[in-house]
Amino acid sequence: MLENLSAQPADKILALMATYKADPRTDKVDLGVGVYKDATGNTPVMRAVKEAERRIIADQTTKAYTGLAGDPEFSAVMKDLVLGDSVPNERVAAIATPGGTGAIRQALELIRLAAPKATVWLSNPTWPNHPSIIKYLGMKMAEYRYFDNDTRGVDFNGMIADLEKVAEGDVVLLHGCCHNPTGANLTYGQMEQVIGLMRKKGAVPFVDIAYQGFGDGLADDAKATRQIASSFENCLIAASCSKNFGIYRERTGILMAVTKDADQQALTQQNLSFLNRQNYSFPPDHGARVVTTILKDPALRAEWEAELEQTRNGMLALRQQLADELKRLTNSDRFDFLAHHRGMFSRLGTTPEVVEKLRADHGIYMVSDSRMNIAGLNAETVPVLARAIVAAGV
Ligand code: LMR
Repeated sequence: MLENLSAQPADKILALMATYKADPRTDKVDLGVGVYKDATGNTPVMRAVKEAERRIIADQTTKAYTGLAGDPEFSAVMKDLVLGDSVPNERVAAIATPGGTGAIRQALELIRLAAPKATVWLSNPTWPNHPSIIKYLGMKMAEYRYFDNDTRGVDFNGMIADLEKVAEGDVVLLHGCCHNPTGANLTYGQMEQVIGLMRKKGAVPFVDIAYQGFGDGLADDAKATRQIASSFENCLIAASCSKNFGIYRERTGILMAVTKDADQQALTQQNLSFLNRQNYSFPPDHGARVVTTILKDPALRAEWEAELEQTRNGMLALRQQLADELKRLTNSDRFDFLAHHRGMFSRLGTTPEVVEKLRADHGIYMVSDSRMNIAGLNAETVPVLARAIVAAGV
């Protein structure tokens, strides 16, 4: 049987992780996979997470199964964190999932159940796992323009022109904040226009929000998602706790479906629980319990928010330092986009050949599409990267 297998396409982000690991150079710089690192290159366990885990271990009296949809308290705190009061609770169905990727996968399976002929529209570029999963599920997909390589900002006219081609019932995947891989984001005004167009077309929005708190702050980063949730009868939201709680390996995420009314909510909830049962039965609980413990305790929540703010401001400072250094070296403001981008990533906007040169000559690792993880830098490596960028002729 197994001789019939053929090799699957490699994920370029994960392949890069392996190449980086194998590189013996001690001064190599990892700007690859989207994992936060502090100035010493460590991915810390956040203080509030440590404390929540301590309490869970001390107080937990059973490891019996939770519900198929996960712990309802987790759904409640996450709905509050992501959606605020943009949509009434009785219109939201939700399941806990293994990470944000699990939520995306379940969302796509729900779309396939409800609208098997729908095309899923993706930004070009997007996180490579989006098209990969859609293709694997045998669903239809199309792309809308998103990134302007000249300005390194959003190609808004191109985006609108492409979304004009969306058919009724199609699904449009939007990044809630901190676009991955570009770092370029819509303004709220632009999001209003996109919402207006999607409503006119009868499209269903699907929001992937994996970096809430990494851009302009917890509330501001949720604004676009809330704008969307309050503007449609139906929409899907896949949220990840991997990055903003730093609990990557705990696989903690949630899929929320905004429904028309309470009846549709009950039906959707039943379908979502069914999908959990088919794919992995009960979702993982530990990370979800950590998140719930933090969000329900005012003091722990304040501690978490403070550390997240520190993380966010650290990334903003690195962005500014890199933009300033490049301004000094090139005597031009053409790299100012690095300070305007938000989140963990910025797309440098150069060719795979230049990316390879940066790796070979300088030990600087970024994804071949020139996505850089800003959190992989520190005050010492920013000037190294800036000099390498200039030397490579970007
Ligand atoms: C990334 O984009 O680097 C992260 O979301 C990690 C991953 O799984 O690709």
